[in-house]
Amino acid sequence: MKVGILGSGDVAKALAGGFIKHGHQVVLGTRDTGKLKDFIAQHKGAQAAGFADAAKFGEVVVLAVKGTAALDVLKAAGATNLADKPVIDATNPIAAAPPTNGVLKFFTSLDQSLMERLQSAYPNAHFVKAYNSVGNARMINPEYKGGKPTMFICGNDDNAKAKVREINDQFGWETADMGKAEAARAIEPLCMLWCILGFTKNEWTHAFKLLHKD
Ligand SMILES: NC(=O)c1ccc[n+]([C@@H]2O[C@H](COP(=O)([O-])OP(=O)(O)OC[C@H]3O[C@@H](n4cnc5c(N)ncnc54)[C@H](OP(=O)(O)O)[C@@H]3O)[C@@H](O)[C@H]2O)c1
Repeated sequence: MKVGILGSGDVAKALAGGFIKHGHQVVLGTRDTGKLKDFIAQHKGAQAAGFADAAKFGEVVVLAVKGTAALDVLKAAGATNLADKPVIDATNPIAAAPPTNGVLKFFTSLDQSLMERLQSAYPNAHFVKAYNSVGNARMINPEYKGGKPTMFICGNDDNAKAKVREINDQFGWETADMGKAEAARAIEPLCMLWCILGFTKNEWTHAFKLLHKD
């Protein structure tokens, strides 16, 4: 599979490493390809490009940029390069303000998530929320004594979600499909919950698991 990853940060690199590990081809998109020089040198199967070329390359696109820049990055990527493709949205709407007692501040409200904003701005792209509420160091094939952790996903397009489910299977996650785009109002704040242990107890290695009664 050809994957276009919009981003050059820790999440973009962790997911790029995962896709390469599982035999996919990756182009990472950034404003400054120089930032990725070392990563590209160390990862056969990865290339760096501008946002538009990365999005154009991908049969699947991953959005892994700062939440405040998400709309600008999608604009640079170009609507036609995103149309009809699954866009895995790993972003969080973290505001430019310090956490209070370990609780992050968001620039969105509980009545509209960042992913819904992105979906309305780019109606032909198939956004799927995923990989937003786990640390980048545990995104790919994490091992826990309690079994596979849960990746909460949501999005309006069932085919796009089926593709993300396949990727989750490869990356060692069990998928919990929480429904349409509105469910991102609940999935994005899982990042706040996840980060509290980090900020208050310096624990950054946990993951969520949904337990069902048999
Ligand atoms: N860090 C984690 O473990 C983690 C885990 C789950 C989810 N997330 C979420 O995943 C996303 C990426 O996180 P990250 O820690 O990898 O990196 P980050 O520092 O949040 O974002 C870096 C990326 O944002 C882009 N960016 C920043 N400002 C920009 C602007 N003004 N215009 C265009 N692009 C801009 C950068 O583009 P350039 O490449 O052009 O510089 C870079 O690719 C965030 O939304 C974060 O909340 C993070």
